[in-house]
Amino acid sequence: MLDLQAIRQDFPILHQEVNGQPLVYLDNAASSQKPVQVIDAIADYYRKDNANVHRGVHRLSQRATDAYEASREKVRNFVNAQSDKEVVFVRGATEAINLVAQSFVRPNLNAGDEILISHMEHHANIVPWQMLCEQTGAKLNVIPMNLEGELDLSTFDELLTDKTKVLAVGHVSNALGTVNPIKDMISKAHSKDIPVLIDGAQAVPHMEVDVQDLDCDFYVFSGHKMFAPTGIGALYGKQDLLEAMPPWQGGGDMILSVSFEHTQYNELPYKFEAGTPHIAGAIGLGAAIDYMQDLGITNLANHEHDLLVAATEKVSAMDGVRIIGTAKEKASVLSFMIEGVHPHDVGTIFDQQGVAIRTGHHCAQPVMQFFGIPATARASFAFYNTMEEVDALVLGIKKVQELFA
Ligand code: ALA
Repeated sequence: MLDLQAIRQDFPILHQEVNGQPLVYLDNAASSQKPVQVIDAIADYYRKDNANVHRGVHRLSQRATDAYEASREKVRNFVNAQSDKEVVFVRGATEAINLVAQSFVRPNLNAGDEILISHMEHHANIVPWQMLCEQTGAKLNVIPMNLEGELDLSTFDELLTDKTKVLAVGHVSNALGTVNPIKDMISKAHSKDIPVLIDGAQAVPHMEVDVQDLDCDFYVFSGHKMFAPTGIGALYGKQDLLEAMPPWQGGGDMILSVSFEHTQYNELPYKFEAGTPHIAGAIGLGAAIDYMQDLGITNLANHEHDLLVAATEKVSAMDGVRIIGTAKEKASVLSFMIEGVHPHDVGTIFDQQGVAIRTGHHCAQPVMQFFGIPATARASFAFYNTMEEVDALVLGIKKVQELFA
């Protein structure tokens, strides 16, 4: 059991009123809140250790480097990568996908080759591949989904062709909450020698991830959705693949030597970290991992599951409300439509009651097109949410219905 009262004390932002009501923060899929442990780790770095990494012999630079590299080791442990060399710090999942698209896929991509994604991807796992198709004449193929918001894998085998150069799929859908059967999908793709990238941005805040068990080739995520700062995230890649890839960006720190005739690139993972990195962000990410692991990621996942089940039961029982995304396996997200009310009006009325939800297309417009809707209202839970906040969601829906009756 989690001590929710104690946990909530760690999140200063939660203790405020919005529009005269206690804040109920249910927009965690967009960005999560940060515990004092993360805020303090960042502040302490700037107060005591701030200096550039990998560059100075002086004490501050050594301390900054040690803290930055300690965070890399925490990320390695968090996703169970084999080696620190397999963990590249990036700005977030979006940057990691662009890096893999340009550095891993593009050099081997020819006109007529195929890239396979799914219908429920976030724009970050669509647009970089479309850009690559525009650059090379490759073709983007899409795994369909069904009305429950689950991937329809009946044609998956046929979509994995001898022209498929990569499968890129989300672990958890940000718009629907669907948890995809990625382990089976990875294994099927590998049986045809197709490498797989997993967008884990919506998974790592909610469940244990083991990249060795999954056997994915790349796994990407953002810090800010898992209680760490914005502007930091990680790319996991299998070492042999990363070794063979050219650098994505050039600059300082990614080189061993530079002359006008020849530049020798640095070893992994620095080859992919050009320029001064987001040192404070990486340290904050490490602190967020410590925080989650101290509480126990399975405990966090169980509590969130209880919140989602309770919210789903209560909202399903309401007249005039349609849940978008009713997959059997879901995490964190409850997207819904209230009959006769535009989701943006729903969001505004919720805000008047101090309840923060996201409304819109959630950067997943093809999902909206599939369901024939412009947008949804979306509540998304984190482990610091309570059953009382589930009730606030239900009350919010009732309030909207009263106002629009
Ligand atoms: N990807 C973020 C969301 O789902 C912004 O809201």
